[in-house]
Amino acid sequence: MAMNDPSVQAFSPGLAGVPAAKSKISFVDGQTGLLEYRGIRIEELAAHSSFMETTYLLLYDRLPTKAEMDRFSSDVVHHRRIKYRITDLIKCLPEHGHPMDALQAAVAALGMFYPARNVLDPEVQYWSTVRLIAKVPTIIAAYYRLQRGDEQIQPRDDLDHASNFLYMLTETVPNPMIAKALDTCLTLHAEHTMNASTFSGMVTASTLADPYTVVSSAIGTLKGPLHGGAAQEVVEMLEAIGSRENVRPYLEQKLAAKEKVMGFGHRIYKVKDPRAIILQQLARQLFARLSRHGPSPLYALAEEVERVGEELLQAKGIHANVDFYSGVLYQTMGLDTDFFPTVFAMARVSGWLAHWLEQIQDNRLFRPDQIYEGAHGRAYVPLNQRT
Ligand code: ACO
Repeated sequence: MAMNDPSVQAFSPGLAGVPAAKSKISFVDGQTGLLEYRGIRIEELAAHSSFMETTYLLLYDRLPTKAEMDRFSSDVVHHRRIKYRITDLIKCLPEHGHPMDALQAAVAALGMFYPARNVLDPEVQYWSTVRLIAKVPTIIAAYYRLQRGDEQIQPRDDLDHASNFLYMLTETVPNPMIAKALDTCLTLHAEHTMNASTFSGMVTASTLADPYTVVSSAIGTLKGPLHGGAAQEVVEMLEAIGSRENVRPYLEQKLAAKEKVMGFGHRIYKVKDPRAIILQQLARQLFARLSRHGPSPLYALAEEVERVGEELLQAKGIHANVDFYSGVLYQTMGLDTDFFPTVFAMARVSGWLAHWLEQIQDNRLFRPDQIYEGAHGRAYVPLNQRT
């Protein structure tokens, strides 16, 4: 392939820097660490909004009035239950499977119960959006319980989104401070421009597939350790490091082996991820209030890893990302590490659906090009003549 071929010149591995769509949903400035949802800074939303209100904002491009918020929240609350056949499907999955696989399978199955073929119908759009936001936490909690051999706990209509999720895991109404912290984590993870899982969902959406298939595609993409799996890997890394003294040797050894430090680095941010700043403050406040014995040892270790990691990586523009502190918070909420990405999915379903709605309003099938590097004109050799 000649180097002056325009397709070679335009090639960008991983599509880095290549705009794949026009969008009005969120904006990131990776040089200054700015993230806005529908024009509102993430710091404002984390301080004053809720995940449910932020979801409305992402989907409908404005903050809801009180009446709109009441109706939307009530519709979500009344669609939290899952059909017993979905529970049966979850019960049939292997107990030691990855929760993201269970979530992906159950979300894909939801689409068989609620056919949504006419994706341009506003009723289909509204109710499938409500159902997905409402039922994803119930599916996650059901698999969490069933993995332990426990019965599923039915959702409670009087609890908000985060409190109800934690309740469905443990049958205990959570400490409001912990529920609020989870709600903030959900708000911070709800949307992030053209990330891998959103793009994956949009490619599926561009075929006019139903929203359950769109969300299950996105869940599959989010599962990977380079994307939604990072929070889990961060906690596993902190556990492997074990002590403050081991932080520097561990990181130096990792970098010398050309391995990535989990929870560090981002395709867009060249400064510390603004969501990591908020999550760190949140974790610090939460541990200060909850623990009589000072910050959790894992949190203290995370701060030390960040300090040394900054020293070793900042020259390359690599800093802590959103997943660096989220895992430590999820662990405090009693979640097992392999469930962390499901909490990310429970949040990001709002962003995926906002992009789905935007995509289908002005759809064009995604069909990128490739640079072929294989052979041409090879002869077919019959089986008995091959050596
Ligand atoms: N630790 C050490 N070095 C890193 C890291 C890291 N976490 N991230 C990037 N680098 C280095 C690479 O080794 C590479 O160095 P080189 O130029 O000397 O070869 C350079 O920075 C560029 O790295 P790429 O992987 O090409 O950068 P990319 O933009 O593709 O990376 C990514 C982004 C995938 C997130 C990467 O930083 C990474 O793997 N981080 C760890 C996993 C992680 O935390 N993922 C969560 C991301 S946030 C999210 O999805 C919600």
